Amino acid sequence: MSQTTLYERLGGEAGLTALIDKYLELLRTNPAYEALSSRYVNGMAHYRARMLEYLTGWFGGPVLYAQKHGLPCLRENHQRIQITAELRDLWFSCMQQALAESIEDEALRTELEAVFWQMADSLRNA
Ligand code: HEM
Repeated sequence: MSQTTLYERLGGEAGLTALIDKYLELLRTNPAYEALSSRYVNGMAHYRARMLEYLTGWFGGPVLYAQKHGLPCLRENHQRIQITAELRDLWFSCMQQALAESIEDEALRTELEAVFWQMADSLRNA
């Protein structure tokens, strides 16, 4: 029995890129996210590429991040960012807004919100 992956349901690379670009656009243009956007010290182009590679594998597509950079350890990658409950909530609301603006399928959106929330909450470290 074959199961459709989240990657496929999202529309593969094009759909995922649209979601990430929406997230980045909101981050850049909405002053409410300033406390978050100021943390991207390696720049948005770096983040955009890494996020696309990571999410592609995480959602069941090709494991691009692992192929290029080794096994991802998100907790370690986020260690130097003080992720309080407030910062986690800010990240999540930016992603939630990006999902709302880029994904029409409500069931898919709800599912993605749940997995993003779980991961975001697990990265809280302060
Ligand atoms: C809990 C709230 C979160 C905050 C505040 C946060 C913040 C950040 C920041 C500021 C960076 C960029 C660091 C830099 O410029 O070097 C980053 C990188 C990254 N984040 Fe997050 N993040 C959060 C949650 C997540 C979640 C839920 C995911 C995945 C589902 C994720 C995936 C990534 C990836 C893949 C990178 C790139 C890592 C690398 O450089 O290899 N983040 N995050």
